[in-house]
Amino acid sequence: MTMIDDALAAIDANAGPAVERLFDFLRIPSVSADPAHFADCDRAADWLVDELRAIGFEAAKHPTDGRPAVVGHIKAARRDSPHVLFYGHYDVQPPDPLDLWRSPPFEPKLEAGPRGERIVARGASDDKGQLMTFLEACRAFQRFGGPPCAITVLFEGEEETGSPSLPAFLTKNAKTLKADIALVCDTGMWSPSTPAITTALRGIVADEVVLTGANRDLHSGVYGGVAVNPIHVLSRILGDLHDPNGAVTLPGFYDGVEELPEEIKEQWAALEFDAAAFLGDVGLTTPVVERGRTPLEQVWSRPTCEVNGISGGYAGEGVKTVLPAKASAKVSFRLVGKQNPEKIVQSFRAFVTLRLPPDVKAEFIGHAGSPAITLPVKNEALRRARRALEAEWGKPAALVGCGGSIPIVGAFKRELNMDSLLVGFALEDDAMHSPNEKYERASFHKGARSWARILGALAA
Ligand code: BES
Ligand code: MN
Ligand code: MN
Repeated sequence: MTMIDDALAAIDANAGPAVERLFDFLRIPSVSADPAHFADCDRAADWLVDELRAIGFEAAKHPTDGRPAVVGHIKAARRDSPHVLFYGHYDVQPPDPLDLWRSPPFEPKLEAGPRGERIVARGASDDKGQLMTFLEACRAFQRFGGPPCAITVLFEGEEETGSPSLPAFLTKNAKTLKADIALVCDTGMWSPSTPAITTALRGIVADEVVLTGANRDLHSGVYGGVAVNPIHVLSRILGDLHDPNGAVTLPGFYDGVEELPEEIKEQWAALEFDAAAFLGDVGLTTPVVERGRTPLEQVWSRPTCEVNGISGGYAGEGVKTVLPAKASAKVSFRLVGKQNPEKIVQSFRAFVTLRLPPDVKAEFIGHAGSPAITLPVKNEALRRARRALEAEWGKPAALVGCGGSIPIVGAFKRELNMDSLLVGFALEDDAMHSPNEKYERASFHKGARSWARILGALAA
């Protein structure tokens, strides 16, 4: 038996305890968006340090300007092996709306599903289950005196809030963190039976606008028709953000957006994406794409402007005849190509400001942004990983894009000049960020086996 076969056998033999370990991790409600859970984020980081030490890593928790990072190191079994940096995030999205969960979000359960057992909990798929696929692979190499590659791990606790503190941490610790390549397990499969390597991520930038009119909420009978209504102003401005063809109207918005290379277009067309099923799963029928774009091109290669939330006035039970003093909206933009997050926020703010009537003031609250990134397709590490995935799944890995964002991947390139290999085992119906998030037991198990094979292939 080769070392890899033996590691795979160890992963199979340890499948039960591996699920127990993941359950322990999932019980920690490490919600990075909510200050009430900052202590839980610390606990999740401590849990990872203990876990890493138990499988032979040197590991420590490191303070950042926000939630702590965890860094660990382990030497390869043999000298002259490649050095990889593995990245994952221990923070999770807030679990609400709580009443839509079938079981409490931080009490993980095994449930029967159409594809076998599934692990249900917030973070099961994004990203605790995925992160643990890698650690379970590392564990399986313990008996060989170490894994086939030298490994540094970096786990952060702010991914779901845009990784605001991580770029500075990278720069400060560049020497420790720089490796031959970064491995990231935070993306999905192409289908339940087809693995995928993601080669493009959209960027993201978000902004919040608060419009204020009168100095207090007013009686809409006494003032209505004379006093300006900030909700009307806000809705008109938000409505102006798109033209009737679905294009974004912000000046300069499309600067840096590139047309897809023909080669990639063909690659994606060959995947035969089923748009009707994609929309049908969420109760929709009709894609709202820009003219001439396929749904897949739209999600993977076109930018967006989305209003994520609006508030103002009275939204409780019954009627209240109020003329509100304030209205606010949270807006975010998915970015592609070389679109510049700062310029887009500036353009948005100018767009709003230009449309303000007398007596309405705008305030803006900014958030960290990150540009899009595309990864090289013709790359030796990618070729090796692709073969390793094929050995595990019996099918070649699809090369895919991703409409979501992982802010730090761009920083790996910019700050450390390091490419990333994005391999994940999440499925479209995992309900990431939604109630009843789940990770298939098969994703977890075969994910660990896949990493064991990838580490072997990178070292061969
Ligand atoms: N794991 C996701 C990214 C992702 C989304 C991968 C969809 C595959 C499919 C990541 O945790 C995430 O949610 N990123 C956020 C970043 C944002 C909060 C700055 C996103 O894309 O919204
Ligand atoms: Mn994630
Ligand atoms: Mn996420």
